[in-house]
Amino acid sequence: MAEGAPSVVVRGGKVVSGGRARRADVALEGGVVAAVGPDLAVPPGAVVLDAGGCLVSAGLVDIHAHLREPGAEEAETVASACRAAALGGFTAVVAMPNTDPPIDSASVVADVRALAAGAPCEVLVAGAITLGRKGERLAPLRELAMLGVRLFTDDGTGVQDGGLLLRALEYAQGLGVVLAEHCEDASLSAGGCMHEGAWSSLLGLPGIPAAAEEAMLARDLALVAQTGAPMHFLHLSTAGSVELFAAARARGLPVTAEVTPHHLALSDAAVAGYDPVFKVNPPLRPEADVEALRRAVAAGTLDAIATDHAPHPPEAKDLPFDQAPPGMLGLETALAVSVNALSGYCSAERVLAKMTAAPAAIAGVSVAGRPAASAQGGPVVAGAAAHLCVFDPAASWTVDPASLASRSANTPFARTTLVGRVRHTVFAGTPVVVDAELVC
Ligand code: DOR
Repeated sequence: MAEGAPSVVVRGGKVVSGGRARRADVALEGGVVAAVGPDLAVPPGAVVLDAGGCLVSAGLVDIHAHLREPGAEEAETVASACRAAALGGFTAVVAMPNTDPPIDSASVVADVRALAAGAPCEVLVAGAITLGRKGERLAPLRELAMLGVRLFTDDGTGVQDGGLLLRALEYAQGLGVVLAEHCEDASLSAGGCMHEGAWSSLLGLPGIPAAAEEAMLARDLALVAQTGAPMHFLHLSTAGSVELFAAARARGLPVTAEVTPHHLALSDAAVAGYDPVFKVNPPLRPEADVEALRRAVAAGTLDAIATDHAPHPPEAKDLPFDQAPPGMLGLETALAVSVNALSGYCSAERVLAKMTAAPAAIAGVSVAGRPAASAQGGPVVAGAAAHLCVFDPAASWTVDPASLASRSANTPFARTTLVGRVRHTVFAGTPVVVDAELVC
């Protein structure tokens, strides 16, 4: 979208970048940031975006989104997900490979990239670790790495076979790519549909113990220690996982981890009404886990906040709780939900860092991995790519599933009033969301 990008001045906001926040305007020209400073002149014909009362940050980066195409276009398409992403302030999303067919070959990588051409955000494609995500044989990691695929995951399931994962780690290390694990020991989670604890007993629903996540995380950390290969951990959800991860970090292991907005905001008590919209994997956990996750974000233990945007159409999702597929929408509500959930734990500026610089670095698209003029995640300085998210922390809005850009409506925040809303999103110099409306 940089070609023909207009002159834009984002006026009157507080620029949040590189751990600093200051009142400044941001001038954009030809797809890059031309200047950041107070009271910038508005060139004739420039588009002025009012950022009064807003935080102006780099565009958000989501390292975990299910775009569903190819194969489940009734749930979401790359186009509809990218519109949802733009409304949520995202200028880059990592597309998970649990599509049909899965992203385990060069041709499917090319297909998804082609579908993303002209979208209002960048789509980075993650590849599967194993062929067909079956956990039996390795996918062609080298071929996909040569195409620029940087993250590999069997998300939706964990790699059950430790020996296979060990080989994948060794291989990935040589290729300079990163494996991202969905930690779930299937022998421990089998048959479960919510967190195993007091609520599952009360509701009579089969449980998934915290140990299903923690056992695989512990195994993987041992393999990282053995190989020295970097690894990213998807959607950590328990206090025990936080503890294991923090200890690994303290030992200097090359590991990163993310948490979702829904695990920061909701507990397993939400399942009390048996509404399948609250079914997700990993499941919502008890308050004590939620508290541990919030503290871990505030303390810097958990690196990134990632949506795990998982659309399911009503005909698939509206089933009895134990039969419904797990997953929740996330892209359009992620920033507001995270800021709300973490209020009292850390600042909105910190939340923004967890949704910009940190995930961009994990995905390999930050300034460390790319020229500044095309990097994601900031910092917002002259010469940087003009990807911006302008967030009004005071705007309150009520989530209406019918008005979301996603093709599906499975948000757990339906009818919830959130404080804080993305006012504008600029992708590659072009405003794609203005005053909370898509303009592309
Ligand atoms: O709840 C989830 N839904 N967790 C996953 O890991 C996969 C996702 C999906 O693809 O629906």
